[in-house]
Parts: sequence; C-alpha cells; structure tokens
Amino acid sequence: MKIRGDGRSQWNNQWGFIVAAVGSAIGLGNIWRFSYMAYENGGGAFLIPYLVALFTAGLPLLLLEFVIGHERVGSAPLAYAKIKERWEWLGWWAVTFVMFGIILYYVVVIAWCLNFFFLSFNLGWGADPNSFFFKDFLKVSGAPSEIGGIRERILLATVFIWFLNWLIVYRGVDRGIEVANKIFMPLLFLLTVVLVVWSSTLEGIGIGLKAYITPDFSKLAKPKVWIDAYSQIFYTLTLGFGIMIVYASYLPEKTNLSKSSLLIAFLNSGYSLFAGIATFSILGYMATQQGKEISEVVSQSIGLAFVAYPKALSLIPGGNIFGVIFFFCLVVAGLSSAISIIEAFVSAMIDKFDMNRTFLITVFSILGLLGSIIFTTEAGLLWLDIVDHFLTHYCLVAVGILECILVGWLFRLDSMRQYINRISSVHIGPWWNFLIKFFIPCILLVILIGNLYSELKEPYEGYTWSSLFFIGWTWIVITLIVAFILSSRPWRTNKRTGEGRSE
Ligand code: ALA
Repeated sequence: MKIRGDGRSQWNNQWGFIVAAVGSAIGLGNIWRFSYMAYENGGGAFLIPYLVALFTAGLPLLLLEFVIGHERVGSAPLAYAKIKERWEWLGWWAVTFVMFGIILYYVVVIAWCLNFFFLSFNLGWGADPNSFFFKDFLKVSGAPSEIGGIRERILLATVFIWFLNWLIVYRGVDRGIEVANKIFMPLLFLLTVVLVVWSSTLEGIGIGLKAYITPDFSKLAKPKVWIDAYSQIFYTLTLGFGIMIVYASYLPEKTNLSKSSLLIAFLNSGYSLFAGIATFSILGYMATQQGKEISEVVSQSIGLAFVAYPKALSLIPGGNIFGVIFFFCLVVAGLSSAISIIEAFVSAMIDKFDMNRTFLITVFSILGLLGSIIFTTEAGLLWLDIVDHFLTHYCLVAVGILECILVGWLFRLDSMRQYINRISSVHIGPWWNFLIKFFIPCILLVILIGNLYSELKEPYEGYTWSSLFFIGWTWIVITLIVAFILSSRPWRTNKRTGEGRSE
C-alpha cells in the first residue's frame, strides 16, 4: 500500500487519481439521469444550459474542491476544519447525507440494473415492460407510508452490491479503488462504444439524432431547464459530496490540478454526450416502429432505462445482447461511483478518530445495507424519489454555496488560486475568484430559492405534505444533527493542527 510519511494513503500515480475521479463522476447519472433529463428538457435544448453550467459552475467548483483537498491535505471535515475550525460540521454534513442518504438508494438502483442485466438474457420483462417494471418488479405501493413487503430479488442484489463495495474499499486507496477503476473505466468506455456503434445501425437514427442535437430555443426560456442543468452538473461531477476533496488529498505534492480537472470534466461530460447518442438512436428507432413523435415515445421519463430501453430491446434483432451490455455498463458505472462515496466517509472517520479502515468499512457497509432495505420495499421507489429530490436539490446545492462562502469570503481565495498556478500547467486567471465569490453562490442561491418556492407552492410530485415532511425534511435535519455531533467530538489525531501545503 502506498503511504505518505504522515500515514496518508496515496495514488500510485496521477493517472490513478484521474481514473478514480472519472470513475466517481461517471455513474448512473451519466447514462440514466442525463438521458432522461435531456429527453424531458427538449433534447438538444438541454445541451446548451448543460454546457453553460459545466463552464460557469462545474469546472470552477471542481477545481475549488481539488485545491481544498490538496492544499489542506484532508477529507472534507478535516480540510474545512483546517480552513476555519467552526466549519468542520460542513464537511461532516456532506459526507453524512451522502453516506446515509444518497448511497443507500444509489446501491438499490444498481441492484435494479443487476436484475435487469440477468433479465436481458431472455428479455424477461415480457411484452409490457412498463407494467413489468412498476407492478411486477417493484410492486410499487400506493403511498410512502404503505411500506409493504421487501422485494426479495432486489434485496438479494443489494446485498451483493454492498459486498462488492466492501471488497473494493477495504483493500484501500491504491490497491482497491485505483485498481478497480483502472479495470472498470476502460471496460465501460469500450462497451459504450459497442452500444453507440450498434445503435447507429438502427432504423430511425436520423430522427433520434436530430432530436438530440437540434436545439429548441423556446425551451431555454423555462427556468426548470436551467435548474435541471445545474443540478445535473452537480450530481454528475459529484460536487458537494466531499469526494473530490478527499481524492485530491491522496495526491502527491507535485501534481497538476488544473489540467486534471479539465481532463476529468471533459471525459465525464464527453461520456454523457456520447452515451446519449445510443439513447436517442433507440428513441428514434421506437418512434419509427410505433409511428409516433419522439416526444411521445416515453410516458415517464424516469423509467427511460427500465421501461423504454427494455421495450426497444424487445424489438431490436439481437436486443438481448444489447441489453446485457447496457445494464452491465450501468452496474460498472454505478459501482465506481458508489465506492467513492464510501471512501469519502470512511476517510473522514480515519482522519478524525484514527480508526482502523477494515473495521470501519465493515461496520459502515453493514449499516449501509440495513439503511438500503427501506428502498427495496414496495414503497422503495417513492422513498427514493423523495429522498433523492431533497438531498440533491437542497443539500448538494447548500454545500456548494457554503464552500464558496467559506473559501471565497472567509479564507485566502487568491492564495489558493496562486497555489493552483504554482503547481499546474494551465494557469487560472482572476475570473475564477469572481466565479467562486459572486457568480456561483448567487446562481445556486437562485436555484435553491426557486426550488423552495415551488416546493411550498404545491407538494412535490403530489405526495402528501406529511410524507414530504417526515421523509424529506426530516432526513436533512437528522443528517445535520449527526454532522454537528461528529464535529463536536474531540480529535483523536493531531492532523487538524497540521498546516496546508502552501504554508
Ligand atoms: N457522479 C455520480 C453519477 O453521476 C454520482 O451517478
């Protein structure tokens, strides 16, 4: 295992870091979420706000998280504590709502993909994939309070995915996470190329691609399209998760931060845009087969991967092989992101409480599995929908705003920029300071207030106020309380007293 003089793990090389960060960024979000976001928001029209969000917020924030982790040398709570002692809670909050929120249902969605991987061999969803997915597979109950039974096949796959997570993370940063990503990422790229090439031989590709790349400028007037684009960039680059901070802390002193962030952001978005070709070709194919407009092919966009894809696979000659590759890609992409989430939390516990990695990862994998169970029940999809909505729309955005305030207003932002320029080949101008200090917090605040406004105007997706309160808001409050408790505990290591690399 590669260890620095102060006992901190290290990547084997810069590539190890880049591949792991790309693995964290490329996940279910790039294939499943990006496709339905693009579909829902008018195809080509979505690409404009998506790219604007990437350049104005995604890239600058990615660089900010990298420099926080690298210069302060720590996981999120440690890095924030080294910036301002009283802001340690922010780091704990990020890694807590991700470890005890996002990952719990994220693993369950990977478990759905694993089930669909096996179902693909004989197109096991039958003639009506919509009814199969919602009624037979998930058996969705009428309300979040009607928990119903556990869906055994989903639970079984969930146990297996947690086991894989455990197996990879417990082997450590260089031998576990780095090695897994060095296998997963090339495999994922290769299989995605196969899918895209294959899908481009289908009838109707012209219609699909036209819908994908032709912008419908009228859509750009809708605030929702912009909000979705910014939240997608946050989710896809795993910003506000605490992951990019800890991954950068495992880098050696000599490194190239700005070039790495450019490469990681472009690989991640390039992958989404590329994989989107397969999705829209499939949609074009279905539109041709069913004689419909492309906008009418899918009724519920969230079910794109689990309803529209299976429907199309049943029509395409050799569709079962296509399905096997597609769902395998989703499992691989999901796993590489899941392990980064666990690492962000485990590393924070090691930094503060000096606990044993193997012990921690075992305990938190078991706790994670127990926490995932609620999402494997008949009410699982409803819980997932509510928890995902609250954590991604409020917590991630709030962390983004607060980290800009912390570093931009309460710390030496310009010296961080100079630090980046000292060690990197691509130099960053003062425009970065402007984005971090003013532009990004303002735009994120507008998004936050916009969400809150629509939240209070009418209940999200028609759920009852009590479900939203007891599941969504309570989840946020409990993770905040846990964060404050963890940050109030005394440090068992002397890492917090250490200085940043530029001092
Ligand atoms: N970045 C990860 C994804 O896109 C969380 O799925």
